[in-house]
Amino acid sequence: MTIGHQVLLRGTGVRFPCAEGDTLLRAALRAGVGLSYECNSGACGSCRYELLEGEVRTRWTEAPGLSARDRRKGRRLACQSEPVTDCVVDLSAVPEPAPHRPIRQAAQLREVRHLTHDMAEFVFTAEKHAAFSAGQYAMLALPGGVERAYSMSNLGNCSREWKFVVKRSPDGQATSILFDSMDLGAAIELDGPYGQAYFRAGDDRDIVCVAGGSGLGAMVSVVLGAAAQADASERTVHLFCGGRAPRDLHIPEAMAMAERRLRALHVHTAVSEPGAADSGSHQGFVHEAVVAELGDEVPEFTYYAAGPPAMTDALARALVLDGGLAADRLHFDRFS
Ligand SMILES: Cc1cc2nc3c(=O)[nH]c(=O)nc-3n(C[C@H](O)[C@H](O)[C@H](O)COP(=O)(O)OP(=O)(O)OC[C@H]3O[C@@H](n4cnc5c(N)ncnc54)[C@H](O)[C@@H]3O)c2cc1C
Ligand code: FES
Repeated sequence: MTIGHQVLLRGTGVRFPCAEGDTLLRAALRAGVGLSYECNSGACGSCRYELLEGEVRTRWTEAPGLSARDRRKGRRLACQSEPVTDCVVDLSAVPEPAPHRPIRQAAQLREVRHLTHDMAEFVFTAEKHAAFSAGQYAMLALPGGVERAYSMSNLGNCSREWKFVVKRSPDGQATSILFDSMDLGAAIELDGPYGQAYFRAGDDRDIVCVAGGSGLGAMVSVVLGAAAQADASERTVHLFCGGRAPRDLHIPEAMAMAERRLRALHVHTAVSEPGAADSGSHQGFVHEAVVAELGDEVPEFTYYAAGPPAMTDALARALVLDGGLAADRLHFDRFS
């Protein structure tokens, strides 16, 4: 990418460069300017803005993050807009950008470990480094030009290693490529890290991690992040994993290592298909298991969650609206 255009946030004096072919959102984050966003994929709508001057190219014109009303009002999505001239935009910067600035780099598929009938861990070695916070995600541009978001299931490291737990999506474009047509050694472009739902090391409360299906990797990373802290032996962590049936569940071996470092690690499983629960699992949705297990103590913890939007939305309702949890103690990026 070459240096392309300048973007000015109206009324703030904040200005940043956007390379040719980059999006407004990613260029801002690369320059250390924090903007409001979640999915980076056109679906959640949290990066909506108005273009006041200049021109942009829209990557995904039908992106569901804009409603018909948004489109009538001329709103756009920063994660789908590529400036083609200098631009002035109506978009406010957020005060605290995530600790690591995203970069694009080449990466190679090194290993695939099958975890369940439809989930596998994909291990990539990147060209430069693996600097990210626990719970963040990267955009993987796969052979054939399909790009999707996947959360890292490991911790930032000097071995340039990025791991992702991916759940196969029926007829899904990206997951078909990952599971069916990528050989070891295959090259991809990895752009990251992204995401605001990263582990807050400075918050010393006990934590609850809630993973629904495809959210397992992000929550494993957060548990490992908590276990890696100097004060780990003073912290209790609850990990809740949900699926339809027992065959959807997998508790990675790394959790045993985390358990040894933490004051306590409690792993809970929930299965939603009626009658499918075995003796060790809660029968029902994973957000119901959280409420049943923690009861009146719900407001005492800091929560991290990852999984399908139906799960994170139900969890937010149960914890914040019904359970009295302060909204800023629940961290998740919508997996739209
Ligand atoms: C922040 C975040 C983190 C995620 N982390 C994980 C994870 O750790 N593990 C995991 O298994 N999944 C994760 N996902 C979901 C993942 O990104 C994919 O949506 C999922 O794997 C299905 O992709 P697919 O291409 O196989 O399915 P498809 O059904 O082909 O596509 C899935 C989605 O891609 C979007 N899409 C469709 N067309 C376009 C287009 N032209 N341009 C851009 N987007 C388009 C749509 O929203 C569609 O629903 C995450 C998603 C987000 C947003
Ligand atoms: S639609 Fe842009 S961040 Fe979700």
